[in-house]
Amino acid sequence: MRKKLIVGNWKMNGRLADNAQLLADVSDGIGALSDVELAVCAPYPYLAQVSTLLNPVHVSWGAQDVSRYADGAYTGDVSAEMLCDFGCRFVIIGHSERRSCFGESDAIVVEKYKRVVATGISPIVCVGETIHERESGLANAVILRQMVAVLDAASVNELSRTVFAYEPVWAIGTGRTATPAQAQEMHVFIRQQLARVDADLAQRIRVLYGGSMKPSNATELLAQSDIDGGLIGGASLLAKDFLAIAAAVNS
Ligand code: 13P
Repeated sequence: MRKKLIVGNWKMNGRLADNAQLLADVSDGIGALSDVELAVCAPYPYLAQVSTLLNPVHVSWGAQDVSRYADGAYTGDVSAEMLCDFGCRFVIIGHSERRSCFGESDAIVVEKYKRVVATGISPIVCVGETIHERESGLANAVILRQMVAVLDAASVNELSRTVFAYEPVWAIGTGRTATPAQAQEMHVFIRQQLARVDADLAQRIRVLYGGSMKPSNATELLAQSDIDGGLIGGASLLAKDFLAIAAAVNS
């Protein structure tokens, strides 16, 4: 049985005072939620704050990106080892905003993946197609390409610590969500690729959905048998909405 996982991706948002309030409100509201695991992925400068204010028994935390290099002369980068120092449990890798705004190729995503798994942190590997790719009938081919890059480079042991996230690019920050049926279909496809590596493993790996998930659509999405949680952008910045999505797991 895969325990549902709800991860907040704050993206490039937050200030010390606002974060403190948000984290306090999330921590206060988490009490009753036992069937769900929660995490927040904060911008690098706030990881120290998050690690001080959260109790990892209730809410864990992580980063939104990582360097593809080990420590050294890479001005501006942050290594996976540094993230360990701040107690990061997760790192988002290959988010579509990194792929499109910062030119991250599948090869770079794989390099980052290998750095992260070497430290014991769990990577959250994002895959997803653009609207143009979907309308051209290429959605499955794109997801397959993004997944195979990682699957070819990873051992079964590394994969067992990996989370995948299906994030259709056309649903991110647009208010337009994949229907539960559309999302479920893609999650099944993703799990089929995992099963080609190891059938047992495929049943254990969590595949999250991301893209305009909010309290009003979370119950239906999370009720799908292959949707194991959510990667939440905008709605993770409001404690009430983030907690409502987590509560939707139980409903
Ligand atoms: P939104 O929930 O704001 O659409 O963002 C989704 C996302 O990109 C999470 O990584």
